[in-house]
Order: sequence, then C-alpha cells, then structure tokens
Amino acid sequence: MLWRWGDPAKCGEAQARGGFVRHARIVLNGMMDRIGVLTSGGDGPGMNAALRAVVRSASSRGIEVLGYRNGYQGLVDGDRLELDDRAVGGRIQRGGTFIGTSRCPAFLEREGRARAARQLEDDGVEGLIVIGGDGSFRGALALMEEHGTLVCGVPGTIDNDVWGTDETIGFDTALNTAVEAIDKIRDTSEATGTTFFVEVMGRGSGALAMYTALAAGAAGVLVPEEHEEISALVARLKRSFAEGKRSHIIVVAEGDEAGGAFGVAEQVGKAVGCPYRVTILGHIQRGGNPTARDRIIAALMGDGAVRALAEGRTGQMLGMRSGRLVEAPLVEVVANAHAGPRLDVLHLAQMLAG
Ligand code: ADP
Ligand code: F6P
Repeated sequence: MLWRWGDPAKCGEAQARGGFVRHARIVLNGMMDRIGVLTSGGDGPGMNAALRAVVRSASSRGIEVLGYRNGYQGLVDGDRLELDDRAVGGRIQRGGTFIGTSRCPAFLEREGRARAARQLEDDGVEGLIVIGGDGSFRGALALMEEHGTLVCGVPGTIDNDVWGTDETIGFDTALNTAVEAIDKIRDTSEATGTTFFVEVMGRGSGALAMYTALAAGAAGVLVPEEHEEISALVARLKRSFAEGKRSHIIVVAEGDEAGGAFGVAEQVGKAVGCPYRVTILGHIQRGGNPTARDRIIAALMGDGAVRALAEGRTGQMLGMRSGRLVEAPLVEVVANAHAGPRLDVLHLAQMLAG
C-alpha cells in the first residue's frame, strides 16, 4: 500500500518554522512514525481511557503520539504535548479528558483548518485521531478533504447520537448517573406524593432520555425526536392518580420542544393539579468515573483507530455494532447524522410506564 501525506516539497518550509521535519514525508507501506490525537466537543467519561488506548496501542507499534490540547483549538494554536505510556498512566478511571476539549469556532473556517494542517505538517504528524461527536467528525472530514490529512474518528459523547455505532464512549456512564439520581428522586417522590420532571442532557438527541426512562421505570418520557401531545400525558397522569399511584417521574430531554423540564412541568403540573418539582440533572451527567463498559469500548475503539491508520485506512470511524468493533466511513456517519435513535426503546419505555 502506498499513500502520500502532505507535500514533501514543503519540508524545507516546515523546517524553517522549527517543525518535526523528519516526519513530513511520503508514508510507505503503512509505516508511521507519529500520529496526533485530540478530544473535541462535549467531554464524556471514558475519553481518558480512549487516550490511554490510543497512546499504548501506538507505542506498541513504535508510533509516537502528540496530544493536541482543547480539541481543534490546540491544532490551530499549536498547543500540544508528547504522550507516552507514562503520560496516560493512572487516568483510565477518571472522567473528563486530561488533554482538554472545546468547541472551536476557528476550525469552522477554512483558514483555521489551513493553520491546523500546517501545524500537523510542522509537527510531523502523519495521521490524526479525533475523539468526539459528529460535529468533530465533520471537522475531521473537512481536514481530510481540504488537506489530505489521514484521519480516524472515535465516537465520544454522552448523547449516543452518532450514526454507525450502537454505543458512544460516555453514554453508559451518563445513563447510570441519571438512573442513580432518579432512583433517589423516586424515594422522595413516593414519600411526598410529588411528581418530578427530571431533565436529562441531550439538546438534539433523546437517546439518553429514553434509555434513562426505560431503566428508571419513568411514568413518562419526552424527547425531541417524537412529539407526545401534552394533553395525552396529562390524561395518563390523571388516570394514574385516580388509580392510586403516588409517585410519578417524567423524564424530559433537554431538547424537547415543549421547553425542557420547566416548560413541560408548568403545562402538565398545572393541568393535572398535582404537587410537582423540577430537577435538572445537567453536567453531573458528563462527569464521574467511567463505567467498565465505557472503559472497554474506549479500549477497543482507541486501539482500532490506531490500527486503521497504521494499516493505511483513512476517513473511518470505529464503532460498536451488536457488541463487535466495526469501521464505518466518516462520510456516511455525518451524512446520516440526523437518522435519529431507536424509537423502539422510546415506545417500550412508554408502554411499560403503564
Ligand atoms: P460534537 O463533536 O460533540 O458533536 P460539536 O458539534 O460542538 O460537538 O463540534 C465540536 C467541534 O468540531 C466544533 O466546535 C468545531 O470546532 C468542529 N466542527 C463542528 N462542525 C464542523 C464543520 N462542519 N466543519 C469544521 N469543523 C466542525
Ligand atoms: O453533546 C454533549 C452535551 O452534554 C449535550 O447532551 C448537551 O446538550 C450539550 O453537550 C451541552 O453542552 P455545553 O456544556 O457546551 O452547554
């Protein structure tokens, strides 16, 4: 296999800027010396485990790794650090991402991406692994299309809204955090007869809300992907109160069109005439120690991404399908970004709500 990264003619220019020119060269037979990695968009528990997997998988193949701080911002600004086996030690159990993340407006612009590409060239980075959601993958694709950068995506977001994978890194932890919180809220709901409207994260995606509702045994769930008439929810709650049920938890996705938990609570609580409270779970869902599942998929995907680049595949995303590691072209991943989650989970949660 033969492919070409960058333009060897630019080596002199890169050297003049003090870059790692020995790496700015034609890459033969999948032999890579150095790759880059960054975490981008909203952080999710398990991103550190993914970084650990990337670094150690690369080092086992004799490949060096540069980490770019704060997502694409680090690429644009040249803010990077060398990551070796020790740099990623003791981090597997930590939430967040120790190299930082951001939403980077500069990278939305061609000029920002051109600066990033020059930086990679100067640094002698021959392939880039992007850990993030579908926005981050759009950025990676743009870099690949405009500058020929070899890229690979690892899905990391608590939203679990990335096409081509059943699971994203961080989702399982966020789901467990939300369910644990609702179990606690249910205690006070049962004790006091108060109805709780609990808002979970997901501006554009109801996946976290519907799985949370299913696992927490919620009495109702509202998500952006499918509209439930407020009047139908009101009628169900009235019937439930009439049957003697005291405790009701309604899960509302942040992006629900009725205005999030406050908006829904105001309409439903008043119409039902019951005591009610609103709880916004917010960013506690983004933090905390990753679950074993998130660490495991992070290890599989991180290693898979390094292998893909080392074997000469670019523009791929690593994902999990039916429990197995798979690759999906990033072009398809972003093209299907709005395919939406599995509504059968939503319908099951609604049916079991009684
Ligand atoms: P996520 O990756 O979690 O979906 P965002 O949608 O906020 O998060 O995207 C993260 C970052 O990826 C953005 O701040 C921006 O720097 C970059 N990005 C997003 N969309 C694009 C795009 N169409 N072109 C270039 N870069 C993009
Ligand atoms: O994409 C992850 C996520 O946590 C969404 O669930 C949420 O809507 C959004 O990020 C919040 O982003 P921010 O912390 O930038 O407000």
